[in-house]
Amino acid sequence: MTKILCMGAGLVGGPTMAMIARKNPAVQVTVVDINRKRIDAWNSDHLPIYEPGLDEVVKEARGRNLFFSTDVEQGIREADIIFVSVNTPTKTFGHGAGCAADLQYWEKCARQILEISTSDKIVVEKSTLPVRTAAAMERILHSGKKGVRFEVLSNPEFLAEGTAIADLDKPDRILIGGHPTPEGQRAVRKLVELYGAWVPKEKILTTNLWSSELSKLTANAFLAQRVSSINSISALCEATDADIGEVARAIGTDSRIGPKFLKASVGFGGSCFKKDILNLVYLCEGYGLHEVAEYWRQVVRMNEYQERRFVARMLKEMFNTIAGKRIALFGFAFKADTGDTRESPAILVARELLEENADLVITDPQALEHARLDLADGIDRVTFESDPYQAARGAHAVALLTEWREYRTLDYQRIFDGMVQPAFLFDGRNHLDHAKLHAIGFNVYSIGKAALKHF
Ligand code: NAD
Ligand code: UDX
Repeated sequence: MTKILCMGAGLVGGPTMAMIARKNPAVQVTVVDINRKRIDAWNSDHLPIYEPGLDEVVKEARGRNLFFSTDVEQGIREADIIFVSVNTPTKTFGHGAGCAADLQYWEKCARQILEISTSDKIVVEKSTLPVRTAAAMERILHSGKKGVRFEVLSNPEFLAEGTAIADLDKPDRILIGGHPTPEGQRAVRKLVELYGAWVPKEKILTTNLWSSELSKLTANAFLAQRVSSINSISALCEATDADIGEVARAIGTDSRIGPKFLKASVGFGGSCFKKDILNLVYLCEGYGLHEVAEYWRQVVRMNEYQERRFVARMLKEMFNTIAGKRIALFGFAFKADTGDTRESPAILVARELLEENADLVITDPQALEHARLDLADGIDRVTFESDPYQAARGAHAVALLTEWREYRTLDYQRIFDGMVQPAFLFDGRNHLDHAKLHAIGFNVYSIGKAALKHF
């Protein structure tokens, strides 16, 4: 029986391994983590992350051929294939702080694999890593004296949060990078076989290691670039009364451009986009490609501009003062269908509003716990409220920051009746029926569209 180990039971490791286990009942999959609380949660009825459909996939395989454990050493010893899916956040210290990837967790894994292994293994980079990391991993793994052979593959993950299970079940593609040597290609075939249990062969792309590593960073950079591009045009729309929805439709019907990822918003968030672009920027700088680095850095700058622009507009429209005003934030997660708030635009928006001495009430169906931690230092001016009606009661403004489906079907007449007049609504996701809200009496401001005001 093939034995797989995954180091890192996070948003990627957990769901990805659960899907591999579900589709390969004859393969034993163990997911380990150094965080005991996380592993306990994976073994409980309350999984550590919220993803639609995840409970069902985990329940089907857990205890059969899917196991969660903190015994990293035993896992390494027994495994034929080891996926490394640990966090690779942006470095916060020393050289490259704020830009380079922090590779300490990844390197610890490589060293531990080398130390514990007594049999040959395929080591798979699942984490998102700078291009040519596999070379460093090989250098560490091949520094041993036990005669154990390691073959390193790159197999980046493209799932998006909130749709992780659907993305894993029907991926656009699986990418596997390996060396062109016979051993490298044998390892690639092993991984192809694993995914081939449910992914059509033509969707499994095999490349060299470096192309695979770089493709992951490039995919995220391109996706984020589309959001920054449409957001940049949204600023121009607001200045000219063009409508960003109409512009996006007009350009998106060009088959060369395509309609996806053209939704203007308060900004992109999530644990990956900013981190991976900065990682790319740092790499380019390292190779002396300063113009290339600057080109991509601008995608992040544009995102920060969009977030700040949103708050600046709130301030300007609310008579240039929001001190002491109650403002309800509808949504704190970085997108709908996730409780994750990492790099959520809501964090910067909330902080800037607090700088203006606003009183904030935050509501979100999944992310309140994280929101509390994110704003721990400004907590005296912030309340957290699970009921959006209560959150909006007595507020001067509602700012919608996450496109939760349930926010569409709220009784906005009831919300309006409970608010201080004139009531303002800022839709940071162009998610609501603006004409209807305006008819109720709201002054409505959205992204890249003319304001609908009553004065
Ligand atoms: P995460 O922070 O949710 O999980 C990483 C886990 O690794 C943590 O639970 C941590 O305790 C564990 N860990 C750290 N060192 C360890 C060690 N030595 N042994 C065992 N476990 C260890 O991170 P994530 O969101 O799952 O992301 C993992 C990687 O996948 C990152 O490189 C990320 O860029 C990439 N990625 C993330 C997403 C996403 O949507 N979150 C999508 C694609 C790729
Ligand atoms: C992203 C990539 O999509 C995924 O392939 C990769 O593996 C991890 O990073 P994720 O960050 O989970 O996934 O979510 P995604 O759907 O890409 O959204 C990222 C951010 O962009 C969110 O804040 C979202 O609201 C925003 N966004 C997305 C827009 O503002 N407009 C859009 O049109 C699309």
